[in-house]
Amino acid sequence: MALLCAHASRVIDTPNYTQQIMWSTLLLLFCLAALSGTVAPICSEGSETDCSLNGVCNNEGVCVCDPGWKGDKCNQLKFKPPNRLEPHGYFNGSMPTWGGDVIYENGIYHAFLTAKGYNTPPYDESDRYVCNTAIIRLEGKSPAGPFEFAEVVLPVYHHETHAIRAPDGTILIYMIKYQGGHMPDLLSELCLIPGCDASYNKSHMVIGMAWSKSVYGPWEEKVILDPWPGLVNRSSWLCQTNCPSVVFAPNGTAVMAFRSVQCDRLNSNSTVKEKIAIATAPHWSGPYTIQSKEPVFGWHAPEDWPPSLVYPVGQIMSNEDPFIWRTKRGYHMLVHSQLLPHLSTRGAYGYSKDGLSWTLLPDLMWDANMTWADGSVSYFKRRQAPALYLDTNGYPLYLLTPVDELYQNGCNWGNGWTFIQSIEHD
Ligand SMILES: *[C@@H]1O[C@H](CO)[C@@H](O)[C@H](O)[C@H]1NC(C)=O
Ligand SMILES: *[C@@H]1O[C@H](CO)[C@@H](O)[C@H](O)[C@H]1NC(C)=O
Ligand SMILES: *[C@@H]1O[C@H](CO)[C@@H](O)[C@H](O)[C@H]1NC(C)=O
Ligand SMILES: *[C@@H]1O[C@H](CO)[C@@H](O)[C@H](O)[C@H]1NC(C)=O
Ligand SMILES: *[C@@H]1O[C@H](CO)[C@@H](O)[C@H](O)[C@H]1NC(C)=O
Ligand SMILES: *[C@@H]1O[C@H](CO)[C@@H](O)[C@H](O)[C@H]1NC(C)=O
Repeated sequence: MALLCAHASRVIDTPNYTQQIMWSTLLLLFCLAALSGTVAPICSEGSETDCSLNGVCNNEGVCVCDPGWKGDKCNQLKFKPPNRLEPHGYFNGSMPTWGGDVIYENGIYHAFLTAKGYNTPPYDESDRYVCNTAIIRLEGKSPAGPFEFAEVVLPVYHHETHAIRAPDGTILIYMIKYQGGHMPDLLSELCLIPGCDASYNKSHMVIGMAWSKSVYGPWEEKVILDPWPGLVNRSSWLCQTNCPSVVFAPNGTAVMAFRSVQCDRLNSNSTVKEKIAIATAPHWSGPYTIQSKEPVFGWHAPEDWPPSLVYPVGQIMSNEDPFIWRTKRGYHMLVHSQLLPHLSTRGAYGYSKDGLSWTLLPDLMWDANMTWADGSVSYFKRRQAPALYLDTNGYPLYLLTPVDELYQNGCNWGNGWTFIQSIEHD
């Protein structure tokens, strides 16, 4: 290349002196760029959004990623190769679990997980994920375990746990709960109708929270979001709300991501798929108000996604299980994505400067088939409902995902366990 450039610059010979200068300059610039290996910058200097809010663009047009992130656009979690000999979550053959969060207190790592509620065979029709569900606390030596069962924190029916420490130190558990405020009727309409459709009826599922000064309780609880206290609008995309996850703005405002879906699935269009919405409250205790007029990631897959990843273009947007967190750069979200490019691994990432207006990326966030350090492979039929264990800056240290090697059907408990995978920091 160098020789060619040197030679070419000598043979440029046009009668017009100005043109000659121009051509030589262009050629020189081209050669300099080629020789120094310069490629088109992938981000503009100083931009954080070009780097997915997980880093910042330097003056060479390259993203410099925050701890825990990698990739051209800081769009990939930097996983450590998983090792079976090291702690990696919670598997209990006699008590399936389905994700949650880890909170540190008193020298102990406390995992608050969604778990199978009552455990005494023979099981009846109500022994399903949507019905037979409680929230438990485990105690562990590290954020990845090993863990020991400690107690049932909130009995059947409490579901889809996310636990976080509020700015004032209070421990908060967000979940969906039975609106009656008492033990749900496990023989209710919700639990008796085979299949999942019953859970899409307005049913008894509303977003609630429990709070306590300590991970050990005692807990108080209440409903915080029931958009339809009276008659349900079954054709609204906000008909059924669940999967709450909360983070706090610097001024103490609670920013809650949740999943919502139209209840009336039979008499409707294919736009009826799970969507993500945002609610906020001036304080963790409420009141929570829905802010999203439209699904935050839109109704359809973004037009500007690579066509090779999105087939067909314009497919109906569908995400659930949001996990929201914040860093100095803004707000971040992991979701269980049901879009085609994510179907096999089910993880996607989105970001937002203000917590209200969001961008979803097409990139895959985790593997469904995990190769361990010893070379063995776990074939996860489901890997979803993500959460992160974060450092004090909001940089991810561990990814928590419930997984199941045997059962695909999300209505049933199967062999679910909570896998906790380490993320590297430099
Ligand atoms: C596994 O679950 C059972 C409840 O079914 C519980 O009694 C036991 O302590 C759990 N084991 C561990 C190691 O947490
Ligand atoms: C859902 O609720 C409506 C109104 O209460 C009821 O008519 C319908 O049978 C229910 N559908 C299912 C599948 O439970
Ligand atoms: C119910 O929601 C649908 C869809 O958003 C809307 O078109 C309709 O006006 C709503 N019905 C009522 C009674 O508010
Ligand atoms: C607090 O921060 C939130 C999120 O950035 C913002 O929407 C809200 O207006 C702020 N509230 C006050 C009182 O400044
Ligand atoms: C479905 O969508 C089409 C076009 O978007 C609309 O004309 C039709 O009314 C919708 N049907 C229902 C049942 O919402
Ligand atoms: C995982 O491995 C199984 C068995 O080889 C294969 O059928 C499946 O397609 C793989 N899944 C993904 C997401 O690669």
